[in-house]
Amino acid sequence: MYDSLYKHLFSRIDAEQIHQLSVNLLAGAGQFAPACSILSNTFSPKTSCPPIKLWGKTFAHPLGLAGGFDKDARCLPALQSLGFSFIEVGTVTPQPQPGNPMPRLFRLTEDQALINRMGFPSAGAAVLAERLKSQPHVDVPLFISLGKNKATTLTDAVQDYIAVLNSLYPYGDAFVVNISSPNTPDLRKLQTREYLSDLLGQLAQTMKSFAGNASLKPLLVKIAPDLEWSEIDDILELSLQFGIAGIIATNTTLQRPQLKSTHQTETGGLSGQPLRQRSTEIIRYIHEHTEKKLTIIGVGGIFTGDDVWEKLSAGATLVQAYTGFIYKGPAFVKQALAQLEARMKQSGISHYEDIIGIK
Ligand SMILES: Cc1cc2nc3c(=O)[nH]c(=O)nc-3n(C[C@H](O)[C@H](O)[C@H](O)COP(=O)(O)O)c2cc1C
Repeated sequence: MYDSLYKHLFSRIDAEQIHQLSVNLLAGAGQFAPACSILSNTFSPKTSCPPIKLWGKTFAHPLGLAGGFDKDARCLPALQSLGFSFIEVGTVTPQPQPGNPMPRLFRLTEDQALINRMGFPSAGAAVLAERLKSQPHVDVPLFISLGKNKATTLTDAVQDYIAVLNSLYPYGDAFVVNISSPNTPDLRKLQTREYLSDLLGQLAQTMKSFAGNASLKPLLVKIAPDLEWSEIDDILELSLQFGIAGIIATNTTLQRPQLKSTHQTETGGLSGQPLRQRSTEIIRYIHEHTEKKLTIIGVGGIFTGDDVWEKLSAGATLVQAYTGFIYKGPAFVKQALAQLEARMKQSGISHYEDIIGIK
């Protein structure tokens, strides 16, 4: 039914309008416990494998929602009812900002892809803090993606990341340093040793001071797929040096592999199917070069259970998706998990963790 709705209705309406409508519907549904029960009864996956224990938290299965879908944390209860095992909100900037002018989100249906140049539209950290404070914590781990305002210079960027942490630390189970969006001018330069050493050093210190005597919450770094191996080596070395818990690989790409859709020339980051292979390659590289010292969260082009398998077997412990959810609709998690578990059964595997890094 979703396929038909998508083909005949959604694909004819501006992509961001549909996104806003979906977010509003999910936010509305989340206000009513019966609506969440219906969503959960219909779409939540029935998993038969034991959950994943990581960082003192429980993940029912490996598939979570990637950053950027629920930027302002408006639909957490409904997203949880759709079966995601963890949810990343944001990217959040310290001050509210509108993002880039519209149109800024494009569907490349023939390529099972999206191009976006959103530019971190954000309600700002204070609004998010109020929202998260006034509602009970969802039952799944909540990741918060930290960003900087467009007007903040690279030299001052660290203050922005710390400001968001400062406002939101009590509400997140893990925090993601987003330095890989292609849509905030020069943001990706923060991935270079010149900036990254200071950024990670200061953020790690801040996380320690916020934790006090409590256990340290994980800090993760989200990287771009367009890096050279030597640049990835630098990021891995600094991440290990500053006690970063893991790497999220990857954000959207500026590359344009062979595409069919007319929107292929739009400026912005490409996500979905054409990104899948490159992000898996990077996951495998990190896995092989860090001897499991960094947890990897794989993201990029996950549509099916086989795609989840591919990322786990390359070395990811958890995975996330955005574009697959847009194309597959509310049954996305349930379908992908059923496919994954069928494949596990065929292979005689009963724990998700046993797929990590298998040849
Ligand atoms: C419209 C859109 C907005 C996004 N916004 C963010 C964001 O704010 N922060 C972030 O870290 N990633 C953002 N992403 C990137 C996704 O989290 C993900 O890394 C990327 O899309 C690859 O995964 P996918 O192929 O499953 O979409 C965005 C992606 C899309 C399509």
